[in-house]
Formats: sequence, C-alpha cells, structure tokens
Amino acid sequence: MNTSSTTPYAQRRTRLAALLGSKGIAIIPSAPEQQRNRDSDFLYRHDSYFYYLTGFAEPKAWLVVTGDGKSTLFCQPKDLEREIWDGFRLGPDAAPAQVGVDAAFSVAEMDQQLPALLDGRDAVWYPFATHKALETRIDGWLGSLRARVRYGALCPQQLRDLCVLLDEMRLFKDSHEQDIMRRAAQISAGAHVRAMQLSARMLRAGEPVREYHLDAELLHEFRRHGSQYPAYGSIVAAGANACVLHYRADAGEVRDGELVLIDAGCELDGYASDITRTFPANGKFSAPQRALYELVLASQEAAIAATRAGARFTDPHEATVKVLAQGMLDLGLLDSNKVGSLQDVIEKRAYFQFYMHRTGHWIGMDVHDCGSYIEPSEVGTVSERKDPLSGELIKDRPARILQSGMVLTIEPGIYVRAAEGVPEQFHNIGIRIEDDAIVTATGCELISRDVPVTVQEIEALMRGVI
Ligand code: GLY
Ligand code: MN
Ligand code: MN
Repeated sequence: MNTSSTTPYAQRRTRLAALLGSKGIAIIPSAPEQQRNRDSDFLYRHDSYFYYLTGFAEPKAWLVVTGDGKSTLFCQPKDLEREIWDGFRLGPDAAPAQVGVDAAFSVAEMDQQLPALLDGRDAVWYPFATHKALETRIDGWLGSLRARVRYGALCPQQLRDLCVLLDEMRLFKDSHEQDIMRRAAQISAGAHVRAMQLSARMLRAGEPVREYHLDAELLHEFRRHGSQYPAYGSIVAAGANACVLHYRADAGEVRDGELVLIDAGCELDGYASDITRTFPANGKFSAPQRALYELVLASQEAAIAATRAGARFTDPHEATVKVLAQGMLDLGLLDSNKVGSLQDVIEKRAYFQFYMHRTGHWIGMDVHDCGSYIEPSEVGTVSERKDPLSGELIKDRPARILQSGMVLTIEPGIYVRAAEGVPEQFHNIGIRIEDDAIVTATGCELISRDVPVTVQEIEALMRGVI
C-alpha cells in the first residue's frame, strides 16, 4: 500500500497518464475471484496491471487514469458483516490517503460514475483480450454517455489497447522491482538448497522419498520467508518424469541413482522468481548423468555470456543451441552419419528431439512476463522462412534488443526419451538449469545463484560439506 505521490505506483500512474494523451482515459480492472468448487474460491491473486499501478490487492477494484494525471479508484465499500467473514476492506473513504489516488468511490457506483468520466475524452484505453466481458461493460458506459449527446455529452471515438503501453513500462524493471525480484530469487534459491539436502538426507537414512516430500520443503521455505505463494505450479520431477516438460510435483518415487528436476520459484509481493536445478537424488552424479549435466551447464554459460545490453533476445538461445547441438554429436545422441554436420543439425533443427523449448522468457510480475519480443523500431521488417521440421511458413521479425533493467530467464535443458538409436545410458534423463538475470550494460546479474549449479558444488552441498 502506498501513501504519497512519490511511491513507485504513483510515479507509474503519472508516467502512464502522460502516454494516454491529454484527452485519453484508461480503465484497468483487477482480477475476478475464481470459484474452485462449491462455496470455495481459489486463493485470490490480483491482476498484475492493476497492482503495478496501485499496489492495492483487494478484489472487486478498478482504477481509472485520465490524461490530465488524475486517478480514481473504485473499491469494495466498507461492510462490517462481510468484513467479519472475509476480512478487512479499505473502503473508498480511506483509499485516497492510502493508495494515493485523487478520488475513490464504491465499486457499486461505477455505472453512475463512468459515463461522466468518459465524457469529453477522445480515446479509451483498456487491456484488450484480458478480462472476460470487459468490452461489454465499457460498451454499456459508452452507450449511457451516447444517450446524453442531446444534452451536450461528447463521446470518445477510439478504443485502444492499454497492454501496448503497460507491457512496455513493465518490461523495464525499476529499482523497487529489482530489489523485490532479488529477494524473491534468494528465497527460492534457499528452497532449492533445502530440497537437495532433504533428498540426500532421507535416502541416506533409508527413508522412502516421494516428489511431494521435496515439494513440501519448497513450500515451507517460500512461506517462512513471507512469500505469498509459488509463482507457478512447482515441478518436482523424479527420474523419467523430468522428460515431461509441464510435469507437476506429484507422488513419484525419488529413487537412489536417479536425477530429480525441480523447477520452482516463489512469488514475493507481486513478483515471480523461476529457478530450475537438476540434481542426483542421492547426491552423486553417475557418469552419463554428469556428461549431460556438464553439457547443459556449458550451454547455459554460453547463453549467459551472450546476455547483455545491445544483444538480441534470441542471442542467448542461439548460443545455447550451438553448444547443445555440438554436445549431442559428441555424446552420440545424434549420429553425424544421419544428421550431418553441426551446421546441418542447427539448420534442420535436429537437436529439437532433445531440446524443444526456448532458452528464456521475460520475468517480472508474471512468471512469463509481458513485453514485446520484437524490436519496436524494426517491427516493419518481416522475413519469411519455412520451418525445417513442420514445413510451416514462419514470419520472422527482428528480435528485441536487450537493454539494462530488462529481466529474463536463462534455461537450457536436455530431455532424452528412450528411442531407437539413442544410447541407452542416457535414456529417461531430463535436465534443465534455469536462472534469472537482470540485463546490465556490460552483461547480466544472475540473481538466483544462491543455490549451487556446478557438479562439484551440488555434490558438496548434498554431502553436507557446504
Ligand atoms: N517454470 C516455467 C518456466 O520455466 O518457464
Ligand atoms: Mn522459466
Ligand atoms: Mn521454470
């Protein structure tokens, strides 16, 4: 919650107002509550755009920002009976002082207030294709305003996508955001450390280990440091389960001699972290596990070296693919007699059998955060190519040029399903290594490295040495 006009939320509203045009108006709803089953809702999570501009986490709230720099909050009215059941509501009387908005009303007054707020504006900005029935509500308010044209009302003439403005703002993390993201990553790193330690300790003690034991350890560490919830469904994948990219922590047995892949990160004060580590359940890599692990780590190092201001978003991915593809040839996962040279493997995407996802994504309030992946100044430059695997015609536009303050993940992997021609020693091994990086002028700051990543460090940690 913010109390003055100098909070990051107030500063963002001021910046947004300047982008709307003097006669523009922006309408931003918070997220709806979602029923889980009868009488029981999913844990409420605010809308990221709304929270970015308000720091206000109650449901049933809307923000209106106008081009003259004024902001109006609509929120739940005070209601003692409801507050006994559901908890404290700020209410519109206290909202201006607490949230720093110029005015606040009960959300029940929206149909009355919005036509007046829309009167005389030229463009209405709202996030397109994000909230069910939002267009219908806006249409209703515009209709009410139009009914008053005979009395001098002036209707807006343009509907514009607010995501375009807010996505670009959110792509660059200010120092307030970077500080929270560093802390979120630190908490998540600590959780990965504890999960690794627990796995080794339980196996050494001869206790059966299931994926949910490790999941519980992650959750415990997130919550005990004040994280509100996991930033996404945690993946805790033992053995062959690691080859299922969207596997979720379940009840699989964590077996001595197999690897465990954990992809989990907490959300802290509205910001995600996203870390993957893959480790031997018993604390000691076998030779084939180690060979693949070292390959993925080398590919991540190449991607990290390619991550800096001025590079393209796709550069880390291309650096990763080059290292992985060479490694697949060297280790016999790919047979050069069948797939040809390194260049052929890359051009024909033969590596895709074992590496089928991209090397990163923006991260921020959303784990897969908003922000264009195309360089805005080159959006008109389009080339076409045929995908070598699907034959589909793909439109390419120049990738985003990285700038300081952008935050992205760097997450190469290798997933070896049992198949003919694939050396048996690698069957069912899935490995991913994922870190979160803030782009700087000269490189990047890895904010998730409080959990070991090298073979030696992981083995030492799990032996109980560090
Ligand atoms: N955990 C989601 C991802 O790595 O993209
Ligand atoms: Mn990720
Ligand atoms: Mn992840």
